[in-house]
Amino acid sequence: METTYHIPVLLQESVDALVQNPSGTYVDLTFGGGGHAREILKRLSPDGKLIAFDRDEDALANSINDPRFTLVNHNFRYCHTFLTYLNCLPVDGILGDLGISSHQINVDERGFAHRLNGPLDMRMNRNGKLTAASILNEYTEKQLLTVFNKYGEIKNAFKLTKIILQRRNNAKIHSIEDFKISIEECTPKGESAKYLSQVFQALRIEVNQELVALEQILQDAETLIKTSGRLVIISYHSLEDRLVKNYLNTGNIEGKKQTDMYGWPIQSFEGKPHKAIIPSPQEIENNKRSRSAKLRIGIRK
Ligand SMILES: C[S@@+](CC[C@H](N)C(=O)[O-])C[C@H]1O[C@@H](n2cnc3c(N)ncnc32)[C@H](O)[C@@H]1O
Repeated sequence: METTYHIPVLLQESVDALVQNPSGTYVDLTFGGGGHAREILKRLSPDGKLIAFDRDEDALANSINDPRFTLVNHNFRYCHTFLTYLNCLPVDGILGDLGISSHQINVDERGFAHRLNGPLDMRMNRNGKLTAASILNEYTEKQLLTVFNKYGEIKNAFKLTKIILQRRNNAKIHSIEDFKISIEECTPKGESAKYLSQVFQALRIEVNQELVALEQILQDAETLIKTSGRLVIISYHSLEDRLVKNYLNTGNIEGKKQTDMYGWPIQSFEGKPHKAIIPSPQEIENNKRSRSAKLRIGIRK
């Protein structure tokens, strides 16, 4: 039974880095249970502003009744359009606490957790067309292989794909339990939790096009954030962290160092992007979900 929507990760560290101007305008890309948003509002003066995004309707129940606060029930990928419409560009800082919330992972019917039984859904936005089941039942062999290789870094992706293709020839795969039984023969004994986490991660990233949204934000960051403003991102796996680190280090997500005609690096953010901040042992003890978190901070030049 769920008792808390979500315990915020690296709360003080991220908000300390973000809020430098109490009367500024800030953006929380991933509102969730609103833990980070509440802390940001505490640091703002009456003329400060916070605009938050979440594509999951469930998050709306946590909205904050505060005249300085606006919650947008949309993909943060379209942040530039919404912030233009709200007439608040450029902003003083943007925070992203990527991935899914504890609420999403603890509700059976959302289908995010391999330890629960539910439908193979995994949509953050339940109006979206693509679900984990539609991927497993309808993607071609090549598409499935790409998803498992690219987003799960799964060693036996080929075997896994073959088994899924064979299995769905007989009957469609609908539930998590059904799926786990179907792929039992390629699930390494003694490491099933780790393996299933990788498989579920790959499906979840594809269902929600998570890296596409992150890439878009990184691409837009230099026009969204004003000089000396902050980009603060908390990520939970290496695929996300690599994009953020590359972008902050080199100005592009590929991580290619580029220079202008005078030999100066072309990049819009500075700071210590190569140095990620990680949770203290005590935070990890209190909140297991935080153990893979990495916080990176960029300062707009
Ligand atoms: C890790 S939780 C954020 C928790 C939040 N910081 C808190 O303190 O409660 C991530 C949230 O971001 C949302 N989310 C993830 N990707 C998104 C996207 N591209 N656009 C909008 N919301 C997104 C998820 O629905 C989820 O509620």
